[in-house]
Amino acid sequence: MTAGSFLRSLHAYGASAMVIVLLLHLSQTFIYGSYKGRREILWLSGCVLFALVLGKAFTGYLLPWDQRAYFATAVGTNAPTEIPIIGESLKRLMRGGTEMGTLTISRFFVAHVFLNPAFIFALVGSHIFLFRKAGTAGPADENPVAPKQDPELFYPRQVLMDLSLTALLILGLGLLSFFAPMQIGPPANPADAQYIPRPEWYYLPIFQWLKYWHGAAAVVGVLMIPTLLVLAVVALPFFDRSLERRPWKRPIAMASYIFLICMLVGLGMRSNYVDRHDSSVAQQLAKQKAEENEYAKKPFEPELSSGTLAAANVALADPLAAKGNTVLETQSCNACHGDGGVGTAAAPALVGVKYKFSAQQLENLLKHPTAT
Ligand code: HEC
Repeated sequence: MTAGSFLRSLHAYGASAMVIVLLLHLSQTFIYGSYKGRREILWLSGCVLFALVLGKAFTGYLLPWDQRAYFATAVGTNAPTEIPIIGESLKRLMRGGTEMGTLTISRFFVAHVFLNPAFIFALVGSHIFLFRKAGTAGPADENPVAPKQDPELFYPRQVLMDLSLTALLILGLGLLSFFAPMQIGPPANPADAQYIPRPEWYYLPIFQWLKYWHGAAAVVGVLMIPTLLVLAVVALPFFDRSLERRPWKRPIAMASYIFLICMLVGLGMRSNYVDRHDSSVAQQLAKQKAEENEYAKKPFEPELSSGTLAAANVALADPLAAKGNTVLETQSCNACHGDGGVGTAAAPALVGVKYKFSAQQLENLLKHPTAT
């Protein structure tokens, strides 16, 4: 498809970039103590935005509906079942039933393109409003309530800095998408019992963490510890009331931050390590990668559900293809090559054959069938 893989890659890399930029922003706000001094609501709106972006990443991951997307989301929607009482309903709510299917993709699509963005827009608006109200906190040695430094207008210095970084990001994402397009795999096949799902990198730590909790202990690992952690982050400006912002004067805060980052990176690396050192898993993952590569190299073929329906669609979309289809039928090529040229046991598919042979080669092939 014209520019298909470029646009898809831009979208997929952009999602990862979004998570990275968000983590950097959160880290800076924490390390600089910029949440201090009457910025509680500002911090809260940031926390909700963070959750919304993670939700956006989660709902978007299913939408390519390839093997990777399908099985990773099957795991993701199954995880909440460890939560007592509401767990099972939560899973059914997300999946639109007990199993993954077309209802799941409808729900995820609506959440991804309508609900989630609506909330994000609203929250970004409130985040900026609250930020303007509280004012910038300034450098780490500033008093967050009454900064000594004179305030500076947003234009021109800050605008220039923001624009430069944005331009750099767009350029980087563009180059990456152009030269190293994001992989897409074969369409989801729920019957595949061998497939080993792996989430996107930013969910790897949670994925690994969930592995350690089974049976009765699961409630502690899946529910209690994450809830406490989230509560601690959300409530941070309410219990950390001191106005001291310099990181070196806040040893407990900095130690907690470093510990948390080490835990996340450690869990993510551990997940990778375990995969590489279990030979059967490593083999299956390599096989999946090879299948993805092969699928990505093949020319685009629209999925044809039935011959007659496909022919009608083709006629609507492309008159030349419709003419070709008429030839296919009047010359009885479809007797061997199947309706719409989808291929049969007797003869190969003709869909996408123009990518395989040049017009000259095709002409030769048809005029002198024995020559090739
Ligand atoms: C009697 C069955 C039969 C009919 C009828 C038939 N084909 Fe084929 N066609 C084949 C088979 C078998 C092959 C594969 C030959 C091979 O691989 O060496 C083939 C190969 C081809 C190929 C090459 C495909 C590829 O991917 O290598 C083209 C193009 C093609 N046919 C076009 C046509 C057209 C156009 C018609 C109608 C005018 C037609 N065929 C009618 C049996 C048939």
